[in-house]
Amino acid sequence: MTTITIIRGDGIGPEIMDATLHVLDAMQLGLAYEFADAGLAALEKHGELLPAATMDSIRRNSVALKSPLTTPVGEGFSSINVELRKRFDLYANVRPAKSFPNTKSRFPAGVDLVIVRENTEGAYSGEGQQVSEDGETATLIQKITHRGSERIVRYAFELARKTGRKKVTVVHKANILKSTSGLFLKTAREVAALYPDIQCNEMIVDNTCMQLVMRPEQFDIIVTTNLFGDIISDLCAGLVGGLGLAPGANIGTDAAIFEAVHGSAPDIAGKGIANPCALLLGAAQMLDHLARPEQAERLRKAIIGTLEAKDSLTPDLGGEGNTMSFAQAIASRL
Ligand code: NAI
Ligand code: MG
Repeated sequence: MTTITIIRGDGIGPEIMDATLHVLDAMQLGLAYEFADAGLAALEKHGELLPAATMDSIRRNSVALKSPLTTPVGEGFSSINVELRKRFDLYANVRPAKSFPNTKSRFPAGVDLVIVRENTEGAYSGEGQQVSEDGETATLIQKITHRGSERIVRYAFELARKTGRKKVTVVHKANILKSTSGLFLKTAREVAALYPDIQCNEMIVDNTCMQLVMRPEQFDIIVTTNLFGDIISDLCAGLVGGLGLAPGANIGTDAAIFEAVHGSAPDIAGKGIANPCALLLGAAQMLDHLARPEQAERLRKAIIGTLEAKDSLTPDLGGEGNTMSFAQAIASRL
């Protein structure tokens, strides 16, 4: 029996987690769930955002499946997502974007790429976040290290080798951000030289956005720094039919947290219409990580089959189903 930590999250979090666990239960994987709280739900129940019991649970199980957590914009506490990634040193954020049938995407086929985002440094380190007393000047320290860049680029190249992918695109802004993005690019070139079997190219981030929208099929694996990776991954979610279909894995040496790329979607929370596929696809990444690739494939096939049949799809995909009916339709195709 493998035990995993489950964080039900905020907003649509509990709804998509219930749907996801319904499907995982139907798969009879022999997984045991340990429920833990984080974010707003934890604050309400326990008076803290990231209780020690939650940290202990993730540390003990090494694997967590997590729904989105709400982070107030502009003020209030800092992101619990970022905090979890930092505390467990989950340095690799791996976000596949793949065309699925019957989405509302502008590209019905041909997108099959993976974004490998550095997950602990850059604009997200939270260091030096300050606004002067007169409210006139705001500052932030962006720190990039050779070690951090090296291990994320290495992760991208190793992923290419392991999954039979052929090309890694290093996305940067070293023309302007000469110190930080410059160090990232220089390090990436050093690492790329160690992988002569994998093609490597470099692209400046703004051009990358245009290229992604015009010719997404040219990309295979993208490796980039934290903030660029965040923005590009939502862009790529849009390329394949929306955030409801985009999963992500946060991987470290000692722990891994699997989730959806999207947030807590307050605009549709409580309505029971959120698409559960992003979290389900995150669960498929988790099954790969748990060395159960056949089960991961089984889950992905059931999702694709349900999309193909247009059976009980949620409104974001143009359907009239709801979160649970969609999950039930997926479970019926396992
Ligand atoms: P969001 O990703 O929650 O929503 C963006 C848009 O996509 C909304 O219109 C929403 O309805 C739609 N959407 C998202 N997931 C969907 C799904 N499964 N099915 C159907 N439609 C879906 O982004 P937003 O509104 O900018 O952020 C809301 C909150 O989530 C913020 O507090 C933010 O900090 C947090 N957040 C948390 C993340 C995490 O826990 N990893 C990641 C991103 C944001
Ligand atoms: Mg994001």
